[in-house]
Amino acid sequence: MAKKVFLYGAPASGKSTLGKKLAARLGAAFVDLDAEIVARQGRPIPEIFAKDGEPVFRDIESQTLAAVIDETKTDTIISLGGGTLLRESNRQLAEAAGTVFCLETPDEKELARRIGSEAGSRPLGNKAKERAPHYNSFPNRIANSFEAADESLVVISTGLAPVLLEGIPLVADGNVASLYCQAGNQTIRQTPLAVIPSGEEHKTPETVIGLWHAFAAAGLGRKDMVAALGGGVTGDLTGFAAATWMRGIDWINFPTTLLSMVDASTGGKTGCDLPEGKNLAGAFHAPKLVVIDTTFLKTLPPEILADGRAEMIKHEAIGGGSKWRIANGDCGMADGIPSAREIAENLMVKVGIVREDPYEKLGRRLLLNCGHTIGHAVEKLSDYEISHGSAVAIGCVAEARLAVRFGLAPESWPTEFAARFQAAGLPTEIPAGMTEADLVPVMMGDKKKAKGGIVTFALPCGWGDVRGVPVNLANGKLERV
Ligand SMILES: NC(=O)c1ccc[n+]([C@@H]2O[C@H](COP(=O)([O-])OP(=O)(O)OC[C@H]3O[C@@H](n4cnc5c(N)ncnc54)[C@H](O)[C@@H]3O)[C@@H](O)[C@H]2O)c1
Ligand SMILES: [Zn+2]
Repeated sequence: MAKKVFLYGAPASGKSTLGKKLAARLGAAFVDLDAEIVARQGRPIPEIFAKDGEPVFRDIESQTLAAVIDETKTDTIISLGGGTLLRESNRQLAEAAGTVFCLETPDEKELARRIGSEAGSRPLGNKAKERAPHYNSFPNRIANSFEAADESLVVISTGLAPVLLEGIPLVADGNVASLYCQAGNQTIRQTPLAVIPSGEEHKTPETVIGLWHAFAAAGLGRKDMVAALGGGVTGDLTGFAAATWMRGIDWINFPTTLLSMVDASTGGKTGCDLPEGKNLAGAFHAPKLVVIDTTFLKTLPPEILADGRAEMIKHEAIGGGSKWRIANGDCGMADGIPSAREIAENLMVKVGIVREDPYEKLGRRLLLNCGHTIGHAVEKLSDYEISHGSAVAIGCVAEARLAVRFGLAPESWPTEFAARFQAAGLPTEIPAGMTEADLVPVMMGDKKKAKGGIVTFALPCGWGDVRGVPVNLANGKLERV
């Protein structure tokens, strides 16, 4: 961080909690303006309001803000009060000293719960609605944040990546580097220590070795951290290089594709491919921080965006459909780019499962494999001509049909499920000429090896109804056990 970061938003939007966690992950300093006022005044804020009134409080707040800005280093995260920047002079001060990020206001129920639980400590109550135009006037936003697995913190935002990235040794994807890190393009102001050529074909041990050499050349020590900026390939490779560099250093993931935002960036899996198979060498090494910044999505080619949507729809099947879908009666992402809020909601499905089963020991994580058993086989049989996302869409619908065949889902379900993928521009039919008899041997040989010909599928049986179902492949077809 080359500039200060200010976290702003409605009372109880979570500014201090996030600020503290973010600073800890980044090794930055943290100041809570409200706590600073209390410490400097020697009395609680409600007392200042009650005894001296709001105008006096606002003067104290302005003086404290100016003092904090003056006294802290650039590498500081400052959480503001819910109304600090209502005063134009305060806003100018903060915007000159750093970047202001406004946290989205939680929905009314959640806000009431938080304020209720902190009754007496906040003088303003629910001002969120009244001040909505003010909060909305800040272009840089944080839609949500949560802890994924272990200590990994996920922040979903617009505009956060360039600010947090500055000063952290960076590994970038080739295309992303030319789009965002070139001289003349000021989005990301630093030169990566390594640029990974774009494409799955570079997800190899050789690239990992190249990263180790780059780490050595940059003098990365045991206490240093490294950042990944790119899609799933860059995240997996950088995470693996970080896992193995000096027996494990911290890393931060800045995913730039939709797929890596909603899927590859959380869960802690890192690694590379071998000629013998995909993701064969790897380690669980969760990033300390995942910064999802939706601004990167604007430059994604449509087919790569669609790949991410396939995984999003898979998450909807597991989690029961997004709130938007239910509220609006439509798919919520027919065209264009999913919003930060939508991504946050979707990602929660994976995060929830990984939280319960971080090391894949309980069988919960199996659900994330929905559509993937048939999907992987289709992908492989096509010689990877069919993209992963397209194969997942095809696999999901084929597995939904299998659920019907096994009497686990209603007849109408595969069509309903398929419509959702089609609306996102994805294929849903197994290519002509690829039969069950062709696909089954590929499934048997997949990395989750069949024991006695039995493979447990994560069968989609309806929205919010994905089930682990053992399937017998021993007879060259898909049979109910
Ligand atoms: N670790 C996990 O849990 C996990 C989960 C799912 C997938 N994965 C892995 O993720 C990889 C696939 O990820 P992916 O789909 O992100 O692929 P990717 O990293 O290859 O990126 C896809 C393409 O998009 C380009 N790109 C990236 N960001 C861009 C941007 N903002 N604008 C323009 N172009 C951009 C890249 O250069 C590349 O050509 C696979 O290797 C898969 O194994 C890992
Ligand atoms: Zn997948």
